[in-house]
Order: sequence, then C-alpha cells, then structure tokens
Amino acid sequence: MFNHNHFLGLENFPKDDIQKIIDTSFNFKEVLDRPIKKVPSLQGVTIVNLFFENSTRTRISFELAQKRLSADTVNFSASTSSLKKGESFKDTAQNIEAMKIDAVVMRHPSPGAPYQLKEFIDAKIINAGDGTHEHPTQAILDMMSIQEKFGKIKGLNIAIIGDIYHSRVARSNIYGLVTMGANVTVCGPSNLIPQEISELGVNINYNIDEVVEWADAVNVLRIQRERMGVGLIPSNREYRKLFGITNERMIRRKKELVIMHPGPMNRGVEIDSKVADSDQAIILDQVLNGVASRMSILYLLLGAKDGKKNED
Ligand code: CP
Repeated sequence: MFNHNHFLGLENFPKDDIQKIIDTSFNFKEVLDRPIKKVPSLQGVTIVNLFFENSTRTRISFELAQKRLSADTVNFSASTSSLKKGESFKDTAQNIEAMKIDAVVMRHPSPGAPYQLKEFIDAKIINAGDGTHEHPTQAILDMMSIQEKFGKIKGLNIAIIGDIYHSRVARSNIYGLVTMGANVTVCGPSNLIPQEISELGVNINYNIDEVVEWADAVNVLRIQRERMGVGLIPSNREYRKLFGITNERMIRRKKELVIMHPGPMNRGVEIDSKVADSDQAIILDQVLNGVASRMSILYLLLGAKDGKKNED
C-alpha cells in the first residue's frame, strides 16, 4: 500500500514509505540497464510537466522516467505559455486539467505553489522543487544513492554543505535523512544557515575541516545567488577558501569521503573540478538514480489499480 495522492514534500513523510520508494527505485534501475529500457506500467496515463523555473536534470529525468514507464507526456514551459498574455496560474492549471490529464509534475519559484495547485485541480501532483521550500524527489534520489553506496542510511554521518538558507535540496534531505536515521550536520557561512534548522534534528558546525573529517558523505550545495537579492557572499574566491570542497581538503582527509552534489555545480567555488571528477564523487550516479527514483514515485502514485482515493 502507498497511501498518497500527491508527492509534495518529505516533512512528516512516513519512513516505511520512503523505504518503499527507494526499494522500488532499485527495481526500476534494473530496467534502465536493459537493452530496451521500457515497461508498460503507466500505459494510458497522461502526465504534464509544468515548469515555471529553469531545470536540466529534474525536467529531463522526469520526462525520461515517464517515457520509460510508457506514459504519455506533455511539456509546459511558462516562458512560452499564455501566462505571458496575462492568464492566471489557476486558469492555466484548470485549462490543462480540462484536457484529461492524470498528473502534473511542477517546478515553481514560489514556496508552497504545489499546495496551491492542489486546491485548483484533481490530478495528482508531484513537487519538482518549489522555491526555497522542498525538492523531495531530489532527496529520494540522494538517499537512494547513499543506500547504493553504503548499503544503508541509518547511522551514517551525512554533511550538507553550503547555502542551507536558500536550499530546497537541503530541507528535503534533512527531513528524509533524519527520518531514515542518519546523523546530519549542516555546514556553511553563518548568514546562510538559519538557527531554527537545528529544530529539525540536525547539528550545525561552521568548521568545514571538522565536518569533512566527521562525515561519511558530503552533499555539496551551490550558492544560490538568484535567490539572494543583495550578495551574501563577499567573493567566490573567499567562499571556496572557507567552505569549498577543495582538492587540498580531500588530500588532508586520509579516508575516502563520498562526494555528492545535486547540480548544477559551480566548479571552483563550492567544489573543485578535481574533486567533482574524482572516483570519490557519485554525482553522475545521482543523476541516473534520479530517473529510477522518479519512475518509482510515478509508479507508486499512478500505477496502483485499486482506484481508491487517498487521504492527502
Ligand atoms: N538538481 C536539480 O534540481 O537540478 P535542475 O535544477 O537542473 O533540475
């Protein structure tokens, strides 16, 4: 049983359901290794990808996941839509739903936008990132990648490094990893770490060298200048020196450290090219796991045949 109508965030999301998504993701990853990478699981299901904000990985991997599951997919881009002629978000959503679609995958710059969409349409909704709020499918693929690398999530030391304040990836990872029993530390400039974040069950440590020594894996975030307004970082050079995952820091740490990054990367700022391209990095594995985990989420939401309407 997977009792969810939508997939909007990982806050209060049950542990067993996270595990079910991850386990199902591994099953779908096997499909991606076959010569014909396609199963009929979502034949006859129509999904619209509603993107109001730029994306490379999330958009392409959702589209690929839908095609691999044999769903019919339509892509909507805000910049070429009738929103430009003054049509409202509500009218846009209701017009799209009138064309008999089953689900919407939405990325939007406003935190909470998928919850607003839920008020306007009956189709199932998957949050592909809402402003600084959540990016739950990214957290699922990150946790899948951690489980794939270590065989477990519980008890591992996972550091999330960078601009925590503006990061939906950080928030969803924190909700998911804490639920799954990982020890989570956040690290970055003090003005980019909200103090209240510790209420979510994570530690704050501003000393990058201590964090690198402590962690089994680090998830490195980019500085989100587009969400900052005035610059909160004096310079890229200074940021790299104080908080970058640099080659020098990797040499100082004797043991292997697993390097993760959700992308897009700013090489030479939060991460050195040599580190990003090293054997320690599982960044491209994360990308492949993104397709498998989005197949899993789509399948669990849309593939169930009992026709019952769930609670959320
Ligand atoms: N990780 C991630 O969300 O990347 P995109 O913005 O390219 O989708």
